Amino acid sequence: MLQIDLSGRRALVTGANSGLGRAIARNLAAAGARVAVHALSDPVSAGAVVKEIEQAGAEAVAVFGDISRPSQVEQVFAGVDAAFGGLDILVNNAGIDGARAMCADSDPKQWETVIAIDLHGPYYCTRQALQRMLPQRRGVILQITSVHEFIPWAGYSAYTSAKAALSMFTKTVAQEVATQGVRVLAIAPGAIRTPINADVWGSPAGLRDLDQKIAMGRPGEPDEIGRVAAFLASDLASYITGTTLAVDGGMLIYPDFSHGG
Ligand code: BGC
Repeated sequence: MLQIDLSGRRALVTGANSGLGRAIARNLAAAGARVAVHALSDPVSAGAVVKEIEQAGAEAVAVFGDISRPSQVEQVFAGVDAAFGGLDILVNNAGIDGARAMCADSDPKQWETVIAIDLHGPYYCTRQALQRMLPQRRGVILQITSVHEFIPWAGYSAYTSAKAALSMFTKTVAQEVATQGVRVLAIAPGAIRTPINADVWGSPAGLRDLDQKIAMGRPGEPDEIGRVAAFLASDLASYITGTTLAVDGGMLIYPDFSHGG
């Protein structure tokens, strides 16, 4: 039987204390990886994910820090080194979409914060990860972008800009390291049922509107991203690098065109 096997692999998932990160951490662990569960600062939610993983019979530790600050990212990676003695898989999942604001009315400070967390953060983490992965000539760096690396989204220009930039960053770094045993790639999730968009899928009208934007007619579940992350991080995906896989129930295939042009 074909199986996703991450045994012996050491993983770090940023923002693993909720939403997609939590599902990704659980799925990597279910495939046999040891997982560092990163959170900004909340020991309760991070501890709960660590416990979930341990109860399922795998190994996990919690690590904390602000990914938008290089010095704290260094500490996060030092924590992973101390726990696991190195790193084989990095999932850059942590991110925010920020407050909705049209460009003309937006607050530059808020715009910069979204870019700092959603773009600078993955850059700092990728840099640290590569310093560990290149010498061992093995590693996978998986960015969690969004369908909004492709689809414009009024009121979220910082978020869409960060995700599109993260996509090009991914391809560029993948090109840099392709012959050195390290794969760099991205998942673009569509609308997945997590806290980030609970205000939308949590109301019947919001859910109806959302379903119309998805060819399959329903939001995704976090495990539908987590399983794909485990696959892409594994050797089953050994020939995939420098690309984004949309996992979106068909959000990107213009569902409106299913009833006429
Ligand atoms: C956002 C979600 C949204 C989804 C689809 C994601 O990037 O974080 O809030 O539901 O894109 O629009």
